[in-house]
Amino acid sequence: MCGIVGVLGDHEAAPILVEALKRLEYRGYDSAGIATVNSGVLDRRRAVGKLVNLSDLLVHEPLPGKSGIGHTRWATHGAPTVTNAHPHRAGQVAVVHNGIIENFRDLRAELAAKGATFVTETDTETVALLTEQHMKEGLGPVDAVYRTLDRLEGAFALAFLFEGEDDLIVAARKGSPLAIGHGDGEMYVGSDAIALAPLTNRITYLEEGDRAVLTRTSLEIRDAHGSIANRKMREIAIGSTRIDKGGHKHFMAKEIAEQPNVLADALSHYLPIADDTISLPGKGIDFTKIERLTMVACGTAFYACLTAKYWFEQIAKLPVEVDVASEFRYREPPVSANTLALFVSQSGETADTLAALRYCEGKARQIVSVINVPESSIARESDLALPIHAGVEVGVASTKAFTCQLSVLLLLALKAAADRGTLSAEELADHISALRSLPSHLNAALDEEDAIRRAALSLSEARDVLFLGRGQMYPLALEGALKLKEISYIHAEGYASGELKHGPIALIDKHMPVVVMAPRDELFDKTVSNMQEVMARKGKVVLISDIEGINEASEGVWSVIRMPSVPHVLAPILYAVPAQLLAYHTAVAKGTDVDQPRNLAKSVTVE
Ligand code: F6R
Repeated sequence: MCGIVGVLGDHEAAPILVEALKRLEYRGYDSAGIATVNSGVLDRRRAVGKLVNLSDLLVHEPLPGKSGIGHTRWATHGAPTVTNAHPHRAGQVAVVHNGIIENFRDLRAELAAKGATFVTETDTETVALLTEQHMKEGLGPVDAVYRTLDRLEGAFALAFLFEGEDDLIVAARKGSPLAIGHGDGEMYVGSDAIALAPLTNRITYLEEGDRAVLTRTSLEIRDAHGSIANRKMREIAIGSTRIDKGGHKHFMAKEIAEQPNVLADALSHYLPIADDTISLPGKGIDFTKIERLTMVACGTAFYACLTAKYWFEQIAKLPVEVDVASEFRYREPPVSANTLALFVSQSGETADTLAALRYCEGKARQIVSVINVPESSIARESDLALPIHAGVEVGVASTKAFTCQLSVLLLLALKAAADRGTLSAEELADHISALRSLPSHLNAALDEEDAIRRAALSLSEARDVLFLGRGQMYPLALEGALKLKEISYIHAEGYASGELKHGPIALIDKHMPVVVMAPRDELFDKTVSNMQEVMARKGKVVLISDIEGINEASEGVWSVIRMPSVPHVLAPILYAVPAQLLAYHTAVAKGTDVDQPRNLAKSVTVE
């Protein structure tokens, strides 16, 4: 993770760097730091914790200079301390790094043997020391960095700044994304284009193994073999609205509340107004040629895939495997030639998902991604990228991206069913018309916020919480538990209702709240039986259901949350809203940091 940024500008660099880091803080917030060169003098400021601490430090200890690099850290090697904070410096060299240098122990031993002393516990310090060593041996800054890069193993995006060089940044990427921004007589570098959005929309993405030499007026990119590489500059459309909470207390609250709108927008990109068909961009997907679907993702995106498995199998009769990317990539699973490999990722930069995608290259018939960031690595490396159009998601806990992922996946399942002849044109039209009404159902779900807040107040007292669901609601139970634990720090587990009696029921006592996600569908009676088993053991049930379900089964439950009645297939998308709001209000009641929960980062670009 970590976010890096660099600027060769015409104005003071420090405020620009801090502003850009604010946009990258979603990548980590254990510490932050900047370095500048001012009339040849290299200096830096670093602070532990959120970026605001660095801003405060800069008020008391300003850092002049129009050239600079900056970093926001998600700690991998070494505790979040000032000493371990980036930029790391060795002599004339300062460097910021996103990723992990896997062979840093060997390099450290080598440098130590030559008399180098280490002051940090980080892998990155090795990069600074190695580059300094090369400069001491007589190489200029650019060649010194190039020689260092040849020695590094692992994943990295790096930006270097040098004492005595007011007009030079050297940058490189391998495994971690890096974008170069073009200004007028200014040049920038950043972990993503969004960080640079207020500065420029003219972006050149570095490709794997690329290294770049930036001055205010020039950019030279070389590939991993040292040959000049012509990388296209693109004009990208990224609004600069991401730091706006729209009147809400937290980004997460805003992102939950805007789901009806973003979902309507997402659907409109795939559903032509004129008819009841599903239109995919580019060459689309011909599901008549697909015999198997392999879906790979991490975290919340993985739960979206697990939900979609029910849809693809039940509606399109297409066999589906779903795997977490960190397992898939090392399991060496056989991928048959008629497999569609589908990768789901909000950021499009998740290291494990990207590696899993690369594993499928040349094996699967087609590589498709469902992503939120169209310029991301996963999108760019797919045969077909399907945007979810959720807009920028700032809260670390994914909310609107999840419901948009689900919607796009449902559209794909319906398209697969239509192509494979398992759904008539009439049935497809019914599904599409139901989908079009989803935003208004989401509004109705949001109207239940008061009841959800009350339930959350009780949940906030709990030490552990169970979430139960059956069939397509099972992945929602997993997602509900994940949301709760990541932002409220309450231990939570999601279970398939039918699994309860195979172990977890031992946990049930009068202290254990159990959230049951149960729309009145054909599995309802079975879920209610499991709920009764919980109540018989004094477990406190929070029942989330529709009016029919509540009328039938709410007697004796601790708390009830009412959802609108919707066609069966839409329930997982709708019930995501109470799951998110329950977690949100529990976290607010506990006073935790909702948007930036401890230990987490939004974009996971390390293994
Ligand atoms: C949870 C959450 C994470 C992400 C996961 C994958 O709220 O946000 O579990 O879903 O890290 O990230 P992406 O979708 O960017 O690949």
